Amino acid sequence: MNIKKDFPIFNNKPLVYFDNAATTQKPTQVIDSIVEFYTKHNSNIHRGIYSFGEYATVLFEKSRTQVANFINAHVSEVIFTNGTTGSINFVALSWADKFIKAGDEIIISAMEHHSNMLPWQQIAQKKAAVLKIIPVTTGYELDMQAYEQLLTPNTKLVAITHISNVLGTLNDIELITQKAHVVGAKVLIDAAQSVAHCKIDVKKINCDFLAFSGHKLLGPTGIGILYIKNILHNQIEPLQLGGGMVFEANIANPTWLQSPHKFEAGTPPVAQAIGLASAIDYIKTHINFDHLQKHEAALCSRLIDGLLKYPEIKILGPIEQLKQKGHIVSFTIANFHPHDVAAYLDTFGICVRAGHHCAQPLHKALGIESSIRVSFYGYNTLQEIEFLLEKIEQLLISTL
Ligand SMILES: Cc1ncc(COP(=O)(O)O)c(C=O)c1O
Repeated sequence: MNIKKDFPIFNNKPLVYFDNAATTQKPTQVIDSIVEFYTKHNSNIHRGIYSFGEYATVLFEKSRTQVANFINAHVSEVIFTNGTTGSINFVALSWADKFIKAGDEIIISAMEHHSNMLPWQQIAQKKAAVLKIIPVTTGYELDMQAYEQLLTPNTKLVAITHISNVLGTLNDIELITQKAHVVGAKVLIDAAQSVAHCKIDVKKINCDFLAFSGHKLLGPTGIGILYIKNILHNQIEPLQLGGGMVFEANIANPTWLQSPHKFEAGTPPVAQAIGLASAIDYIKTHINFDHLQKHEAALCSRLIDGLLKYPEIKILGPIEQLKQKGHIVSFTIANFHPHDVAAYLDTFGICVRAGHHCAQPLHKALGIESSIRVSFYGYNTLQEIEFLLEKIEQLLISTL
């Protein structure tokens, strides 16, 4: 793939950026769209009668349409939030707070990011509901047999990540959703790690909620998406009340606008929405998901083969799957703390992630505290992998 030239951050200094699961870099097109909004069109939206303000509103709502088309949703099903975390917390504090009752069951998995674990743990505690956890197999995949056994008529929600931000495991979310619906449970998909790497089609998945962040999708920080299936709109109360979400405000009986506006009180992240739409536009015109997946899998393959030469290195993830469609490779090196490895690699301009990656229960289940994570996007190259492997080899040789 030849897209690195589109990302100006790589012009500043030598940078081998392998922390794309944390956040991706931004193409010029995205940066320019934000600058252009603030320099030429800045105005609040849904308020101004003057044409200047109306144009900002048009740009903002056009962004929503672009997001909706990107995930095959209707515009009314696309809610702007501040990120995946904001989206999941919204569902916990609005839908779950209303519908989860004592004795109900919520199913998550052992590979969830804290953002898709803590909100459910808190709701379960508050409501005296039961939080059930799908275990991860020794092959680093979801234990689907255990999942089926956990499902009961009391299951009200299944909240699952599409791709693990540590293991890189790609979960079969269509099957998971289908099985949850059989017992009448709703399904929330955390698409934070997948939306920039493969086609998301909410109709095909048939989930009830889906969350992702703009900044992991080549877009700006401060914006995320919550997809809410349209049949749920009237059942869900707005979490925040204020300007922009009210149809009629009166003292006795205020009424709300329809979705999505009823869920977006206050001034929304206008410039960020425009930046996100520009990121989607960039992906549509410059990135073919099949090519991207092949490219990233080739990087995973080379990295895994290079690392497996060393008996002291352990890969945490489903190796064969990662070699075919992965973009995240986590590992440990015996006798080296991940922080020390990351700090060492940093001296060569290589950015990798070290720590628990906001998945402490997963690390605990694997019997470790932390790991080293290398995560790719289309601008990473095989030469960068060779450079990384060379530096790891030097580290290991230096301690012989
Ligand atoms: C799987 C997963 N879910 C949720 C999040 C939280 O995303 P954000 O911090 O953008 O809200 C992340 C971020 O790394 C993630 O990887």
